[in-house]
Amino acid sequence: MHRLNRILVLTGAGVSAESGIPTFRGKDGYWRNLDPAKLATPEAFAKDPGLVWEWYRERRQRIRNAQPNAAHNAIAKLAQHAQEFLLVTQNVDDLHARAGSPKQKMVQIHGDIFVTRCSRCDFQFRDTGRGGSPEPPAPSAIYPHSGRLRACPERKSNGSIATTSAQPDQEQKDIPKCSKCSALMRPGVVWFGEQLPWDELRRVENYLEAGPCDFVIVAGTTATFGYIIDWALRAIASDGTLVEVNPEETPLSRFATQRLREPAAIALPRIVDELVIYRSSKL
Ligand code: APR
Repeated sequence: MHRLNRILVLTGAGVSAESGIPTFRGKDGYWRNLDPAKLATPEAFAKDPGLVWEWYRERRQRIRNAQPNAAHNAIAKLAQHAQEFLLVTQNVDDLHARAGSPKQKMVQIHGDIFVTRCSRCDFQFRDTGRGGSPEPPAPSAIYPHSGRLRACPERKSNGSIATTSAQPDQEQKDIPKCSKCSALMRPGVVWFGEQLPWDELRRVENYLEAGPCDFVIVAGTTATFGYIIDWALRAIASDGTLVEVNPEETPLSRFATQRLREPAAIALPRIVDELVIYRSSKL
């Protein structure tokens, strides 16, 4: 059975699928018949920033309405029991964090959908928009046509949010502008063709360089990007276990020592319980 000293977990959209978040390349990935791979690009944003914002706002709302599933919970549990642990997720949703995966043991390598950042300068803010208002106005973003800085949504006498600021789709078609340089604000995610965030990349490299892992789990990803396979193979110790959790075959499958062709919310709780029970029996 397995030591639980150093663990690396790599996840993709499949882990959030059972929370109702569409995957990218699954049949449910298209939005208004638009291919996500065509929308999640700097070119698409340059061509029609309103349309791209609409897509991200719908995704943000869907994520707010979603709950972490048993796969997210199992990974958070593993983070608690492993001596050394790092979760590297390609997911821009916040379900791993909401399940309790600690920030210092998690890398969102493709960014965070609830971050809004300037497309030119370093101004950015993060707001999940929970607590009533569907999509909070940027703390200091100016809405061009209203020209008014909006601190918080107006309220009707019965306390409910006044339509003008509450109707997300009406206002939200506007594209927030940076209060520092007036450039367009964009979602804080990594789009196709863009560099991975340097600081996050450094954290992954530091973890890989700190020593081999006994156990590597790769769950819910097509492993489309070579760095996912590269990190998994560089991480695994010569006698370590590389587990792939995915109902389908992927380019990583031939390297895995175990292939679990099951939904993540089924396979991960079982794997983690086995590992945790085994570890506690060794203590
Ligand atoms: N449990 C486990 N795996 C699942 C489940 C499930 N319930 N449902 C689907 N999958 C698998 C699919 O078989 C597929 O291999 O999850 C994978 C989802 O693949 P993609 O949609 O390609 O998502 P991902 O691998 O995360 O994409 C990587 O590409 O689109 C960009 O930036 C985006 O982060 C994303 C990256």
